[in-house]
Amino acid sequence: MAPQLDIYFGDNLGIMRGLPEASFDLIYIDPPFNTGKTQARSRIQTIRDPEGDRNGFGGQRYRTVKIGTQAFADNFDDFLAFLEPRLEEAVRLLRPEGSFFLHLDYREVHYAKVLLDGLFGRDSFMNEIIWAYDYGARSKRKWPAKHDNILWYAKNPDRYTFRFEDMDRIPYMAPGLVTPEKADRGKTPTDVWWHTIVPTNGRERTGYPTQKPLGILNRIIRIHSNPGDTVLDFFAGSGTTGEAAIRNGRNAVLIDNNPEAMEVMARRLAFAAPRFHGYEPSPAQMDAGTATDCPARAPVAKAIWRL
Ligand SMILES: C[S@@+](CC[C@H](N)C(=O)[O-])C[C@H]1O[C@@H](n2cnc3c(N)ncnc32)[C@H](O)[C@@H]1O
Repeated sequence: MAPQLDIYFGDNLGIMRGLPEASFDLIYIDPPFNTGKTQARSRIQTIRDPEGDRNGFGGQRYRTVKIGTQAFADNFDDFLAFLEPRLEEAVRLLRPEGSFFLHLDYREVHYAKVLLDGLFGRDSFMNEIIWAYDYGARSKRKWPAKHDNILWYAKNPDRYTFRFEDMDRIPYMAPGLVTPEKADRGKTPTDVWWHTIVPTNGRERTGYPTQKPLGILNRIIRIHSNPGDTVLDFFAGSGTTGEAAIRNGRNAVLIDNNPEAMEVMARRLAFAAPRFHGYEPSPAQMDAGTATDCPARAPVAKAIWRL
């Protein structure tokens, strides 16, 4: 049976709350950082000063001094407060032997890990995968940050899907130190994944600003789910998870609240005849998606793994 793709338009929290418990084998999310409002909350102290600008206790004059601005902390609190109820839903929606992947930037991943340890239990934490790439400007004042972090939690740390035999192979760093047969075969990857970003003018590119490489999602889906399983991405963006899932024979449910994401997914994933919920793609979008020269119709690009 052909894999099924469902795409929902709207805020993910309400949609997730309407989905039945334990209905997903694998959940991957790549949430936007800082969805909360920027609140530059200034902390103020009053100091007694005869030249001060305000009257205070006992008729004394006081001046106010700004002792700091907590813009970052406030943003961050908003982000975690936004994420937490959605993560709680993810735990509810995951099957007892399912896996959860959270893809984040290095600045907030540690706070999110503490949150996830609380929701899944520390024993459920399996790996922190480092996706390393090499692109863009290089700082001369500190080590250039060229990686993203992906946290893997298994709902049951004793029983989960890990299809080791399906793992792609990568070249040895020093092939001269192993037999030619081993060098030809390559080795299995570690928790550091070197992979190019989505090339700006490559066939995979959809134009969606935060699009992640298909190679990363292919690896997660092939190793952490079985054919016929169902995958959820509730921050779907351009639909990379959906494309990887369908092309690898898994069902997928994608959610996003941005109409531009819907437009991109309608074109990119038209080949899988998705069912849309709360959104009506135009016939032109669906035609664009089924045109033979559309990147989404092309075979999955061979991932460029480097070491
Ligand atoms: C970083 S992007 C995901 C990119 C995706 N991994 C890809 O490869 O294209 C995050 C997405 O989350 C969506 N989003 C943000 N808040 C949301 C919400 N409350 N409900 C549903 N989607 C949301 C944004 O519209 C955006 O498309």
